[in-house]
Amino acid sequence: MNYKIALIRGDGIGPEVVGEAVNVLEAVGRKFGHSFTYEEVLLGGCATDAVGKSYPDGTAEKCKACDAVLLGAVGGPKWGSDKPAEQRPETALLAIRKDLGLYANLRPAALRPAMADACPLKKETAEKGIDLMMVRELTGGIYFGQREKYETPDRGMEAADRMAYSEMEIERIGRRAFELARLRRKKVSSVDKANVLETSRLWRSVMHRLAEEYPDVAYEDMLVDNCAMQLVRDPGQFDVVVTENMFGDILSDEASMVTGSIGLLPSASIGDTAPGLYEPIHGSAPDIAGQDKANPIATILSVAMMLRYSFHLAEEADAVERAVDAVLDQGWRTADIAEPGVTAIGTKEMGRLICQQLA
Ligand code: IPM
Ligand code: MG
Repeated sequence: MNYKIALIRGDGIGPEVVGEAVNVLEAVGRKFGHSFTYEEVLLGGCATDAVGKSYPDGTAEKCKACDAVLLGAVGGPKWGSDKPAEQRPETALLAIRKDLGLYANLRPAALRPAMADACPLKKETAEKGIDLMMVRELTGGIYFGQREKYETPDRGMEAADRMAYSEMEIERIGRRAFELARLRRKKVSSVDKANVLETSRLWRSVMHRLAEEYPDVAYEDMLVDNCAMQLVRDPGQFDVVVTENMFGDILSDEASMVTGSIGLLPSASIGDTAPGLYEPIHGSAPDIAGQDKANPIATILSVAMMLRYSFHLAEEADAVERAVDAVLDQGWRTADIAEPGVTAIGTKEMGRLICQQLA
């Protein structure tokens, strides 16, 4: 089979980590007899520099013509919040999610066996294991609501961001969560702020309706502040966590930290029809860009998610994940995950070792 992949290398360390992920795809192709072709897509700060806007015309169409999208990272201080919206990388990221209809963002946070010591929590907590899947709604809520800024007569400027959710939007993300839970440990924790927000009360009622449809899946409601606390108290209790856009943004960073390194965690954004988009959870890390220091593993594991969810190549996905675990087991570390006293290897060497292990 030939698969066509849109490559959004992006800013900062993006090009370096995507480079290694492509090498891994090539290694998968050689081993399993697939071929991959690539379409370069310009998006982010680099697009602003090249053509004056972070989301050039035709970006979504280019991506839709591919089977999946791989994104490195976008953003950087050069294109900060003082710049007009069309020049900011974040605008492009939100636009592509919306235009491709990628309403489900899957962010697994698992403590990899070789990395158990990296868990910043108590040893007893780490020993219980951490393996959760954060399912974040990605195309609704406050991220996409109306924004306003206006002068008041007596209180200076005022700003407002509208948060709205429809039953349709809640139901489709909820269904994803329950379906995923069926393939895992059969538990869904739905996170909301139903003691305050109307959107959360609607969220909860839709989730309850779905829970009845999935009697084989254990279900619980959890308030978002409690969830933030439980994630550091006892993350082992979670299997699938489903939540709205902004809560998911915040909780997924927290969940990634408890596993030891944000440099290891992949993500998948999927919709119903358009190609899925796969990207590491970490940002563009401009401070270490171009220095062969970035950890390519999160992007390589994003490729594994692409193989699994977009191409239904489970065996190939397992092989990539096993290769990563084997290299970590052998003690190889990039700087971000190196224990004191361990000599770190660079981005390229980490990629090469994983490819070698795969072969
Ligand atoms: C993420 C990021 C983005 C988000 C930013 C860069 C707009 O934090 O993917 O989690 O908030 O969704
Ligand atoms: Mg975030």
